[in-house]
Amino acid sequence: MSVAAVCPGSFDPITMGHLDIVRRAAGEFDRLVVAVLDNPRKAASAMFDAKERMELIRACVDDLPGVEVDSFSGLLVDFCRSKDISVVCKGLRAVSDFEYELQMAQMNQRIGGVETLFMSTSPEYSYLSSSLIKEVARGGGTIEGTVPPVVEEAVHRRLAEAG
Ligand code: PNS
Repeated sequence: MSVAAVCPGSFDPITMGHLDIVRRAAGEFDRLVVAVLDNPRKAASAMFDAKERMELIRACVDDLPGVEVDSFSGLLVDFCRSKDISVVCKGLRAVSDFEYELQMAQMNQRIGGVETLFMSTSPEYSYLSSSLIKEVARGGGTIEGTVPPVVEEAVHRRLAEAG
């Protein structure tokens, strides 16, 4: 039986930590969909729109067989149903992630019968978050090695555009 899973997230932008989880998850499932949440309520504060985030992710996963990139709005369980997916795969960086992730996992199980499998983030990436990386870049610090090179360039380009 072929097993499909989704790695959902905001991915604004995708980090080395996200990519670590996506790469390792791709080795465990026959089909893996990386799903970008397109949240209109957060559009004004986002660095990249959903289409841009998807393009950046595609550039990072194009060597991975069985990996697709998509976007969704609304509930994750509805997206899973529409794609015939019953497993969500998420990374846990630290215990602090666990409480909220557990709540979401239990809710998704209850409302959609979707199971969540957690993967531990590789230790070298456990301190990374998209927000922190954007903050460092905005402050003029280096983000090299925290995001893939294509994303690093896109972040610098976006900041330059913003002036
Ligand atoms: O990258 P993030 O912000 O940790 O991703 C969170 C995400 C997108 C996985 C989560 O917010 C989500 O699934 N949102 C979709 C709306 C939804 O289904 N909410 C109910 C969750 S129980």
